[in-house]
Amino acid sequence: MTTRQAQLASANVTTVRLNPSDSVSLDTGALVVGIHSGPDGPSTAPGAGDLDEALGGTLAAALGALGATGKPGEISKIPTFGALPAPLVVAVGLGEAPSGDYDPETLRRAAGVAVRALAGTPRAALALPAVTAEQAQAVALGGLLGAYAFTRFRTVGEQPAPVEELTVLTSAAGAADAVKRAEVLAKSVSLVRDLVNSPPSDLWPARFAEIAEQSAKEAGLTVEVLDEEALREGGYGGIVAVGQGSANPPRLVRLAYSHPEATSTLAFVGKGITFDSGGLSLKPSASMDWMKSDMGGAGAVFGALLGVAGLGLRVNVVGYLCLAENMPSGTAQRPSDVFTSLSGKTVEVLDTDAEGRLVLIDGITRAGRDNPDVIIDVATLTGAQIVALGWRTAGVMSNDDVLRAEVVETAVGEGEGAWGMPLPEELRKGLDSPVADIANLQPERWGSMLAAGIFLREFVPEGVRWAHIDMAGPAFNKGEPHGYTPKGGTGAITRTLVGIAERYAR
Ligand code: BES
Ligand code: MN
Ligand code: ZN
Repeated sequence: MTTRQAQLASANVTTVRLNPSDSVSLDTGALVVGIHSGPDGPSTAPGAGDLDEALGGTLAAALGALGATGKPGEISKIPTFGALPAPLVVAVGLGEAPSGDYDPETLRRAAGVAVRALAGTPRAALALPAVTAEQAQAVALGGLLGAYAFTRFRTVGEQPAPVEELTVLTSAAGAADAVKRAEVLAKSVSLVRDLVNSPPSDLWPARFAEIAEQSAKEAGLTVEVLDEEALREGGYGGIVAVGQGSANPPRLVRLAYSHPEATSTLAFVGKGITFDSGGLSLKPSASMDWMKSDMGGAGAVFGALLGVAGLGLRVNVVGYLCLAENMPSGTAQRPSDVFTSLSGKTVEVLDTDAEGRLVLIDGITRAGRDNPDVIIDVATLTGAQIVALGWRTAGVMSNDDVLRAEVVETAVGEGEGAWGMPLPEELRKGLDSPVADIANLQPERWGSMLAAGIFLREFVPEGVRWAHIDMAGPAFNKGEPHGYTPKGGTGAITRTLVGIAERYAR
């Protein structure tokens, strides 16, 4: 095993611990408190009381004098001049004080912003509002996710190391278990971020399969890997067609978690294009340079399976990683080629850049053999998703209104943007092919996120509830870091999938 692989598996080294004692006496590198915005300037949030007292009740006024307002995302750093063991206080804006409970996402983001701002400080304590276990979990998760950094390929330049040890100040009952969930989720999400950030020279289908195989075994999951020969012999026409243009052949990975008292079985299917050049329908360079992120769906499914195992949920979950590299070459599929999918249905490939749906349909068909109650596929599927919903909101389509609502509600509860989208019947006829059962593309671009959903729906096994999550935008942050989200791979939808598994474990 190479060093790079070894680093991949242990990316998230930040630890978290709980401390019920007062913040002021804590020996740490920085003390993080929350502040609210209001008409009379900033005011301190719960958790900051001890500190404010130690400073003679001057904290809010001092912050006001610095120009702090308490708006979300705002950071103010104040030296403590020896007044307490921690040399630095970091005040993070929480926005207006809530009339009721804190929104967990407000706390996650604030903790994330603060911990990102503390890179280079080995130890920090979070004295944010954490009165309930849920709030303590939000603070821990936001802090852990904010501590993420992808440094594997950096050899020169200033590299402030991420915070290594986080102390969450709370005396909430049940905080220890709640924070455990935060650690499990953070570990999964960090791994997915690493995979998404990995350049395609370092992560191709067989390598991804190897990584999945190794960590799944460690987590006690059942693993099965189909290589290119097994895929060809098994009739996985879609995965084979997409992968045939690359020197790095495709793989299908099946991961299974089971619980003896489970009453439901979920199947998650992820699009795992380790690089999407578009194939012979080549992408322009500006759309191609971030297509290492086109395996984000498979990443989320992989991360979710590890998360479900880490939490020991009372549900059966099967995950499929549909892995291929979409490349142009003399062996690549051509626009107008026809293949037979695992379902037996034939598909005319009008555009080789609409490849995600081709690998997904084989994954969906295969998932049907597990007799799941629900199939959920996750994919960076269409640019149209970004046009419709932007960078941070995934589109959720389904053949079942209740399931679609469940997925959206779960995502939003986890702090992941998602919105329900329709599957309009009139779009189906645009996928009619003159030669095959269906074409992979409609002739016009309007509504292409929905048309992709309609295409997938044709392959959902009879009677199975299915949802499709298009997260082309949310998977990769091309902009600046925000909240607990870094630049690059985000690990989007990993937490949503774990949340759905928790729902079906109840
Ligand atoms: N991987 C892309 C979609 C994508 C675009 C993901 C931008 C993330 C950011 C997908 O395979 C693709 O190329 N889709 C095409 C489909 C079209 C040819 C119907 C698209 O959306 O342009
Ligand atoms: Mn494509
Ligand atoms: Zn793609």
